[in-house]
Amino acid sequence: MAIRKIAQIGHPVLRQTARDVSREQLASPAMQAFIDDLIETMRDADGAGLAAIQVYEPVRICAIEVRNNPRYPYKPPIPLTILVNPVLTPVGDELFENNEGCLSVPNLRAMVQRQVHVHVKAWDRHGNDIDETVHGLKAGTYQHEVDHLLGKVFVDRVTDPTTFSTWTEFDRHHKAAFVERAKALVARVGS
Ligand code: NI
Repeated sequence: MAIRKIAQIGHPVLRQTARDVSREQLASPAMQAFIDDLIETMRDADGAGLAAIQVYEPVRICAIEVRNNPRYPYKPPIPLTILVNPVLTPVGDELFENNEGCLSVPNLRAMVQRQVHVHVKAWDRHGNDIDETVHGLKAGTYQHEVDHLLGKVFVDRVTDPTTFSTWTEFDRHHKAAFVERAKALVARVGS
């Protein structure tokens, strides 16, 4: 296993559209080893998710995991999930304001509108079907990661640029209010 370099905003790879992975490619030892690297890189960087395109591999794979993380004390845990060829479909039209950052956009956060409920169809790393509806903060994380596979970065979706903030200023001035809203969302929709 190896920790990969993470592409930073401005690198053209982040604007590519990732390509689908075939069952044969997914089953290959090289692709399975790549997925192990993706997980290791996400954990090393202390991220809640990482898309393959962020480590210069424009294939439709992303890793998501939220463990008890002091960075995100308001985020309920998400077990390690690998999404292969994910397709998200909004369920209903309810939106929420999510505070997001990205390993490809160092030390910058902002408010982004996300769907509260999304249906996800994908494979797991072994090609088994994933077919479920996710909610709230978890749905926000899924939308952020799947955006990467479409060449989108969260900054593209920031409708109010005055919400941009470094981690330090977010913690000082915005975190308390956001955590209250996040907790209310989690209490209402379960994640
Ligand atoms: Ni990101």
